[in-house]
Amino acid sequence: MSAVPAATLEHLLAEAVTASQRAYCPHSDFPVGAALLTAEGAVVHGCNVENISYGLTNCAERSALFAAVSQGLLPRSFTAMAIHAPGVPLISPCGACRQVLLELMAPDATIVCSGSEPGRTRTWTLAELLPGAFEDF
Ligand code: THU
Repeated sequence: MSAVPAATLEHLLAEAVTASQRAYCPHSDFPVGAALLTAEGAVVHGCNVENISYGLTNCAERSALFAAVSQGLLPRSFTAMAIHAPGVPLISPCGACRQVLLELMAPDATIVCSGSEPGRTRTWTLAELLPGAFEDF
């Protein structure tokens, strides 16, 4: 059971839908949006930003986290992130983003995901997303 109320997660998922509409993804045509909830209740958006040199692409999750830290928000003060991708029934964050989420989210943060299937969501803890992680912080 998540410490973040279900209504808050639902609102955050709607914010992730908005963020996904700003994705720059001409190479994959696979938009992703992320909405990060801060301890103060603010929401920071992120979307995937691709590049013709494909490896330079930034995922939506990392875009949101890097934007938040760049705005002066405190690392590890983020209590939840919603992720939405309309191109799959249900999105699941990539391995690289899981490592970054683990370091920058609050230790007890909730990650909630949705996709093209109406009403279908999945919620994870960080430990569930990256068991046995490399961490030294
Ligand atoms: N992508 C994300 O933004 N987040 C994920 O969790 C998975 C993948 C992006 C990267 C790339 O722009 C596109 O989706 C296809 O992989």
